[in-house]
Amino acid sequence: MRVAFLSSEAVPFAKTGGLGDVAGALPKALVGAGVDACLIHPLYDTTDRGLIEEKVFDNLEVDWLGGRRTVSVYLSYAAGAPAFLIDAPEYFARGKVYGFGDDHYRFAFFSRAALALLGRLGQAPDVLHGNDWPCGFAATWLWAGRQWGGFLGQTRTLMSIHNLAYQGLFDPGDLYRLGFRGGEESNVFMSNGAASSLKAGLMTSDAISTVSPRYSFEIQGHEQGYGLDWLMRQRRDRLVGITNGVDYDVWNPETDPHLPAHYSAEDLSGKLECKLELLRRFGLPEEPDRPVVASISRLVAQKGFDLIKHVAWEMLTAGAFFVSLGSGEHEYESFFQWLKDSAPNRVGIYRGFDEPLAHQIEAGADIFLMPSLYEPCGLNQMYSMRYGTVPVVRATGGLDDTVEEFDPEEGTGTGFKFGPYNAHALLDKVREALYWYTRKDAWGRIQSNGMRVDNSWGAAARKYVRLYHALFDL
Ligand code: ADP
Ligand code: GLC
Repeated sequence: MRVAFLSSEAVPFAKTGGLGDVAGALPKALVGAGVDACLIHPLYDTTDRGLIEEKVFDNLEVDWLGGRRTVSVYLSYAAGAPAFLIDAPEYFARGKVYGFGDDHYRFAFFSRAALALLGRLGQAPDVLHGNDWPCGFAATWLWAGRQWGGFLGQTRTLMSIHNLAYQGLFDPGDLYRLGFRGGEESNVFMSNGAASSLKAGLMTSDAISTVSPRYSFEIQGHEQGYGLDWLMRQRRDRLVGITNGVDYDVWNPETDPHLPAHYSAEDLSGKLECKLELLRRFGLPEEPDRPVVASISRLVAQKGFDLIKHVAWEMLTAGAFFVSLGSGEHEYESFFQWLKDSAPNRVGIYRGFDEPLAHQIEAGADIFLMPSLYEPCGLNQMYSMRYGTVPVVRATGGLDDTVEEFDPEEGTGTGFKFGPYNAHALLDKVREALYWYTRKDAWGRIQSNGMRVDNSWGAAARKYVRLYHALFDL
């Protein structure tokens, strides 16, 4: 089974969120499951050049905008599977990954170059596995080209949805210039008057996966379908949910190089050192018995910050520290600044993206908040569990699939979950968690239950392998 895995971000080359973690780990896990997998990824100016092994092509020709464009391609083994990095500076040397008016051109070019690269490598993959809207173009081109048979005529396509809300919308007037002719080739893009690369990919791929089973059902409904629920229902026999894994080479408190001390489920003493160091890092008083409640996230409505805004003050009056790492919408950034100014001895905030600090917070915190409005999978609740930090989550998407409610009678469970999207429900659960935090035996049990859960990528990789094979029986 030969698989070409396309992603616009993958650790260690680029990361803006969970897709980076997944695309950095899954190809490696596929190789471990016996798949001949490679990653295809843009070479950004922010990518560390030290990760590059060699230049493999300096003259890859790509059909583009009615002409030809030549790019270089580099090879890296830093993600544990061969990664081909496409070097097109005018598109990818812009200081950040997304957020430009011509993003659809940038990632359409990436998709086009990926197909050209496969041709140049001379071995058609059995499966082209695309992720999110940037890769919708590749699946669509492959589908459009199939009518002529040819080199990729037998290659099957899988599109993975990591977040249905980001649809890669652009002006349909650009479709022709991008190389899509009229008729069906353009119709597949149309979504409420705009062109959507995600919709085109989901229309034309042989199958669709999402990153948790529950999310695969939720997106078939109006509330979470973001206007594409009809398509998800129409293709539900081609839609499956496979829960993300955790890369324990990167997220493991026994070995994590970012931590001041290491620890395990058998011996948690290092976690206390991590907590004290975290308090110092944020200039907070060293009060080890006071619980640290934490959040690490893009500051966007999806992540439930409207609820956090309502309960933050009560959390502090109930005796907790609160620590937040993230940047995003102004409304939430200014709220956290206000909270910090109002309670400087209880609140620590860092506005920005800081990978080492994310690890240090996972280790030093006691409780992790993820009251998401929706969550395709979510990784931080799983990282938290491994770091002995108890998650408080809303029962949605992958959060519901991966966190088990604590049952004090049985001593089972890994965290706390609430259902309705409202601040009372969150506050009740936070209070419940704060109560159990004071009962050291019970708390130790929840921590240990979470730390022993095995969310490694192996099981998920085997499910993908079965899915790849099933694409040939459709
Ligand atoms: P999403 O992809 O929707 O943002 P996930 O929970 O799947 O949510 O993954 C988020 C990833 O991004 C995690 O690895 C998390 O630690 C990381 N992350 C989010 N915000 C920051 C930040 N400000 N600094 C460092 N890492 C962050
Ligand atoms: C998206 C989702 C998140 C998921 C991640 C990786 O960014 O918002 O829930 O964990 O992709 O699949």
